[in-house]
Amino acid sequence: MAMPRTIAIDGPAGAGKSTIGALVAERLGYLYLDTGAMYRAVALAAQRKTIDPDDAARLAALAGSVRITIGPPTTQDGRAYTVLLDGSDVTWEIRSAEIDRIVSQVARVSGVRDAMVAQQRALARKGRVVMVGRDIGTVVLPNAEKKIFLTASAGERARRREEELASRGERRPRQDLLNEILRRDRLDTEREVSPLKAADDAVVVQTDGLSVKEALERVLGAISPRS
Ligand code: DC
Repeated sequence: MAMPRTIAIDGPAGAGKSTIGALVAERLGYLYLDTGAMYRAVALAAQRKTIDPDDAARLAALAGSVRITIGPPTTQDGRAYTVLLDGSDVTWEIRSAEIDRIVSQVARVSGVRDAMVAQQRALARKGRVVMVGRDIGTVVLPNAEKKIFLTASAGERARRREEELASRGERRPRQDLLNEILRRDRLDTEREVSPLKAADDAVVVQTDGLSVKEALERVLGAISPRS
C-alpha cells in the first residue's frame, strides 16, 4: 500500500498540531499547510483596518479581498513557514496575544470560512499535502486519505504554552493561559459553522505526557500503511 497523499490533522489549540504537522510533512517530503495561520492573517488584516471582530459582513468582504500566501521559511529564525499578507511578511505578527484574543471570533464567520476553505481545497488538489486545522477532516477534505485528531488535556496544553512563551522570554501565569485555552476551546467547539470535532474516521492521538518525538512517532505510526 502507498502512503496517503492527503493527510488531515485536526485538534484543539495547543495540542501540538503545528509542530507535529510540520515534522510529518518534512519527514514525508509533503507540502505543509497550517490553516490556522490563514485565519490569523485575516484577523490581523481586520485589526489593521479596525474592523469589529463581530462585523460578519465586513469580515467576509475582507477575507475575499486579501491575499494570503503561506510558503517555505524565507528566514531561519525558528519559523516553520512564512506567511505573507498582501505581500508583506506577517509570520510573527499573527502570533500576538491580541490576535489570539480575536481570531476565534473571525474564524466563526461563514463568509470568512468559505473564502479560506476554497483556497485550502485548491491547494490540496495539487496532492501530497499535510493540512492542519480544526475542520480539515470533517469539512475541508472529507475524503482525505488519512485523518488524525491530535489532542491533549487543557492542563497539559496550558503547561506547554507556558514553556513555549518562557523559551521566548515571556512569562504568563499558568492559570491565565488555561483560561484562554478553555475560552478558545469553547468558541471553537460551540460555533455553528464547522465546529471543532473529530471526524468519525479519524485516528485519535492523545499526547498528554508524550515528548514531541514520541507524539511524532505515534502519528507516523498511524499514517504508515500496515502492509
Ligand atoms: O491553530 P490556531 O490556534 O493557529 O488557529 C487559530 C484560530 O483559527 C482558532 O481560533 C481556530 C481557527 N481555525 C479554524 O476555525 N479552522 C481551521 N481550519 C484552523 C483554525
